[in-house]
Amino acid sequence: MSLNIKFSEQACGAEITGIDLTRDLSVNEVNNIREAWLKYHVLSFPNQIINDDDLERFTLYFGSFGDDPFIAPIPGRRNIIAVKRVADEKVPIFADNWHTDWSFQEYPPAGTCLFGKTIPTQGGDTLFANQHLALEKMSSSLRKKLESKQAIHSALVPYSPGGGYGSKDREMGRSMDIQASDEAFSKQLHPIIKQHPETKREGIYGTIGYIIGIDGMDSKDALKLLMELSAWQCQEEFVYRHKWKKNMLIMWDNRSVLHRATGGYEGQERLLHRTTIAAYKE
Ligand code: SIN
Repeated sequence: MSLNIKFSEQACGAEITGIDLTRDLSVNEVNNIREAWLKYHVLSFPNQIINDDDLERFTLYFGSFGDDPFIAPIPGRRNIIAVKRVADEKVPIFADNWHTDWSFQEYPPAGTCLFGKTIPTQGGDTLFANQHLALEKMSSSLRKKLESKQAIHSALVPYSPGGGYGSKDREMGRSMDIQASDEAFSKQLHPIIKQHPETKREGIYGTIGYIIGIDGMDSKDALKLLMELSAWQCQEEFVYRHKWKKNMLIMWDNRSVLHRATGGYEGQERLLHRTTIAAYKE
């Protein structure tokens, strides 16, 4: 079977067919997928009837498991979380703000794999914003303001006890097992303009949300600059809209894209299983 790779014709994203993820992959297949992942940043694999063992095996072809804080893993698995929403859930949609996964860690995950188990008949798309393209098309005046700046990343806005997924959210009955804690207050610096460790292409890393300030900058000025950056980096022209189908696996490159969930499926259930691929430590 040979791998077919079809570009989405949007800002990033490609679909891969001609592969069966229930079996072991050859070195050649893994190399081809990695190459496509680095080129298109988001890959989707439709019609894969895979189980959690298959999902874990697939993830491990691309690195070790990442460390997923604040969300309890599914029963019996240490490295799979469920992104889920039951039909009558009232709390806000999980992850519907632009972000790159766990950017508040010292070594955030290189990639994320997400497998669609229960997919609503409409809505629930995942959006991806290509941050190489956003940087490439950025004005030199905005770029100048960002160059050599270190962003302060933290999980405090969503995951501290008083944060978006904190105690109030839990009381309101979110079906995902999110465990907010004081660990969310810790901070981590990353350059705003960052070289991709594998392709060496420059991109914008992160956005306001997990980014809570800019090192050495007055917080009002930092907020203004971060707002200007976020208005730029998530524009329609940089976005790929991923439409889900049941039994579809996707993997994305957290070093190249921002992503966010969307709603629009009120009254329906949605369930996906997720793993992360750890960073390559340079
Ligand atoms: C995520 O950010 O992992 C969730 C994306 C989604 O639910 O579409």
